Amino acid sequence: AYVVAEPCIKCKYTDCVEVCPVDCFYEGPNFLVIHPDECIDCGACEPACPTKAIFPEESLPAKWNEYVQLNSELSKAWPNITEKKDPLPEAEEWKDVEEKRDKLER
Ligand code: SF4
Ligand code: F3S
Repeated sequence: AYVVAEPCIKCKYTDCVEVCPVDCFYEGPNFLVIHPDECIDCGACEPACPTKAIFPEESLPAKWNEYVQLNSELSKAWPNITEKKDPLPEAEEWKDVEEKRDKLER
């Protein structure tokens, strides 16, 4: 499955949601995740993300390994999102910030 990693935190552009054919994104306060059992590995979301937050699990950078588990766990806890919406107000500011794992809200 594809995985949403750290660059999405505090941005949440939601362009990924618009292109997913199976509506497998789930929404938290400042981050989205992909349900690993629903994703069909089509790859459409990867180039759509302005922060380059989405990776196939096999090519997820090792520093973000934890996000495999986070996508799995949080997709079962958070509501489904099926339509694009405005990004978070500070998205442009946070887009290129590294090390924002501690900002993830549940
Ligand atoms: Fe949806 Fe395809 Fe992305 Fe999986 S790879 S989350 S099915 S757009
Ligand atoms: Fe996040 Fe990128 Fe989607 S910032 S909401 S993974 S388009």
